[in-house]
Amino acid sequence: MKKNIAVYPGTFDAATNGHLDIIKRAAKLFDKVIVAVLVNQNKKTIFSVKERLKHLREITKDIPNVEVDSFEGLLAEYMKKKDSCIAVRGLRAVSDLEYEFQMANTNRALNKEMDTIFLMPRARYTYLSSSMVREVYSLGGRLQDYVPEIVEKALIKHYKK
Ligand code: PNS
Repeated sequence: MKKNIAVYPGTFDAATNGHLDIIKRAAKLFDKVIVAVLVNQNKKTIFSVKERLKHLREITKDIPNVEVDSFEGLLAEYMKKKDSCIAVRGLRAVSDLEYEFQMANTNRALNKEMDTIFLMPRARYTYLSSSMVREVYSLGGRLQDYVPEIVEKALIKHYKK
């Protein structure tokens, strides 16, 4: 089990500058960071897994130790496959804690080797979430400073349909 590989799992629908902030912080702490997009057929997303992978690869292309991948099923099993014992999650506010606490404990019950570490994004991103971004764009608003350019273009295209 390698200690220097971290996995940053999530839905990333849509990827925000808050996600990118966490990725950059994790990339400074670990030799390798795998950004892992969950493939969940039951969850309705605006972007396909292929699109989300494309967005994440584009926004992380200048960070050499970041890899973008997708996974199905349990995160705890994916971590074993990737030989990683550290999951990274962003913590924006105390309101995130209950969900994250539940998830981290469930994952640890499924994989004893695994721990979750939490990183805080820059203060300006603390209130930012993918769902808020989707809502703003669906109503014709724009949040240029909060989403990467490729994601902003994709959001505009998506809601123009
Ligand atoms: O960005 P999100 O939607 O908050 O990410 C949630 C995610 C993908 C990290 C979480 O739902 C997950 O890991 N799902 C995989 C299934 C799993 O392992 N479930 C048990 C632990 S919650």
